[in-house]
Amino acid sequence: MTTNTSIGAERLARRMARGCEFLGSEVAILCGAMSWVSERHLVSAMSNAGGFGLIACGAMSPELLDKEIAATKALTSKPFGVNLITMHPQLLELIAVCKQHQVTHVVLAGGLPPAGSLDAIKEFGAKLICFAPALSLAKKLIRSGVDALVVEGMEAGGHIGPVSTSVLAQEILPEVSEQVPVFVAGGIGRGEAIAGYLDMGAAGVQLGTRFVCATESIAHANFKKAFIRASARDATASVQIDPRLPVIPVRALKNAAGELFTAKQREVAQLLDDGKVEMMEAQLQIEHYWAGALRRAVIDGDVEHGSVMAGQSVGMVKKEEPVAEIIATLMAEAAHALEKRAA
Ligand SMILES: Cc1cc2nc3c(=O)[nH]c(=O)nc-3n(C[C@H](O)[C@H](O)[C@H](O)COP(=O)(O)O)c2cc1C
Repeated sequence: MTTNTSIGAERLARRMARGCEFLGSEVAILCGAMSWVSERHLVSAMSNAGGFGLIACGAMSPELLDKEIAATKALTSKPFGVNLITMHPQLLELIAVCKQHQVTHVVLAGGLPPAGSLDAIKEFGAKLICFAPALSLAKKLIRSGVDALVVEGMEAGGHIGPVSTSVLAQEILPEVSEQVPVFVAGGIGRGEAIAGYLDMGAAGVQLGTRFVCATESIAHANFKKAFIRASARDATASVQIDPRLPVIPVRALKNAAGELFTAKQREVAQLLDDGKVEMMEAQLQIEHYWAGALRRAVIDGDVEHGSVMAGQSVGMVKKEEPVAEIIATLMAEAAHALEKRAA
């Protein structure tokens, strides 16, 4: 492995400089927001270790988000961000909470920024980061004033799009990476891949799965054990059973919860058929289902009936270790890869 003074490490620092400047961190590695997992402990550990942590607001109320931000601030003086889901019915109230705390970076996930949200975030000086699931949307988001993009492929854990990280990176990085910083996410388990995406023009990367088993992560021991046991092929995408009910696929470890989700979809599709709910409400019910199922696995440790959301990089998670060590390993691997390029 290389040391911090090697050519590889210098090259890595140079390639990460823009991402670090944007984030205000020492390394351009974000820990992607993970509902129930990305709370004060993991977020502060990530930022304290030189990376960039993100609080997953998920389905939290504005009051809970307020408490979580305050608690995170008590644990770190380094910058961190907040990830909000666009579908949240109180999105504007959540943004107001971020304003109150002068949060420096806000990530909007789950769709294009709804009316008023972009202005409300930029108005108090926060940097806005959005997910770009296609080149056309990346360009549209940049035109609308978004400060940075996350390009996330279907290898990722949690809610996913249909296209792989490698294809999205090839399509999007050459076109827009000079305009705004782009962070690549999905399927990254080792530093060699980080070096590759930086070489392609990424400003940095976002990892989720690789940080779930951090010592500082509050995920239940059963959740962490399931990760350590699993291989890439165990992390599969959920299946849409009814064409009328467009559900966003979720990547998670195979278990009985997959069947429960099929039953849930049938139940919601029936409510739609009977005219008892509108499409928006139907989709919200599906999202609430996921939030509950993920909580059951992450917090209660029921890894059979709960949702063990995990990306395909889960096979590269081998043990529980502190965030600082995970970052050090990733950085050493990336530096080593760039060192070899020099030959
Ligand atoms: C358990 C779990 C929960 C997640 N929850 C969220 C979430 O609430 N909001 C979000 O934007 N992304 C969520 N994600 C995606 C991550 O933020 C991150 O983008 C993704 O994990 C990166 O891909 P990787 O898993 O291959 O590293 C979740 C991922 C996992 C594994």
